[in-house]
Amino acid sequence: MSRLDSFIRRLEAQRTVLNWAAAAIAGREGPVLELGLGNGRTYDHLRDILPGRAIHAFDRQAKANPRSMPEAPLLVLGDMEQTLPAFAARHGRSAVLLHVDATTGQPERDAVALAWLPGHVAALAADDALIVSGSALEHPLLIATPLPEGVPAGRYYAYRRASG
Ligand SMILES: C[S@@+](CC[C@H](N)C(=O)[O-])C[C@H]1O[C@@H](n2cnc3c(N)ncnc32)[C@H](O)[C@@H]1O
Repeated sequence: MSRLDSFIRRLEAQRTVLNWAAAAIAGREGPVLELGLGNGRTYDHLRDILPGRAIHAFDRQAKANPRSMPEAPLLVLGDMEQTLPAFAARHGRSAVLLHVDATTGQPERDAVALAWLPGHVAALAADDALIVSGSALEHPLLIATPLPEGVPAGRYYAYRRASG
């Protein structure tokens, strides 16, 4: 498969998964967290499909397209290894949906650089919160859940946060 085809399929999977996740949390109150603002594409989509919902976006630096830049109180800048525990200390384990998109596209590199990420996600997610991620998250409290139809296994990942 060409890199262009692979990129398009990844974006299609992202959109399918985000639309499915937004529908799954309908009627459930609580913030949504975007871990990896980047260019702001998926943040912008979440904002579009979850009107009125507080969506907090995290990244090292503000480099999103100006049209997709979160307002100051919803933008958390800095290394997530530090900013996520600080956010959890302020907001508790309240997030009902987390979209994890911090990957570099190199799984071996991510496994080392982001080894702390699954634990931080578990510390932010409310009981039964939905976590959707571009990379696999291994943690005893993050229970793999089936992806929506049309998204091949391994292209995206979905978890529910167990209680406890
Ligand atoms: C794949 S990009 C995100 C793409 C974005 N969701 C979009 O749709 O445009 C990954 C982002 O995660 C951020 N990131 C990776 N590790 C991080 C860390 N430890 N702390 C803060 N941001 C991090 C990078 O700076 C990068 O912007």
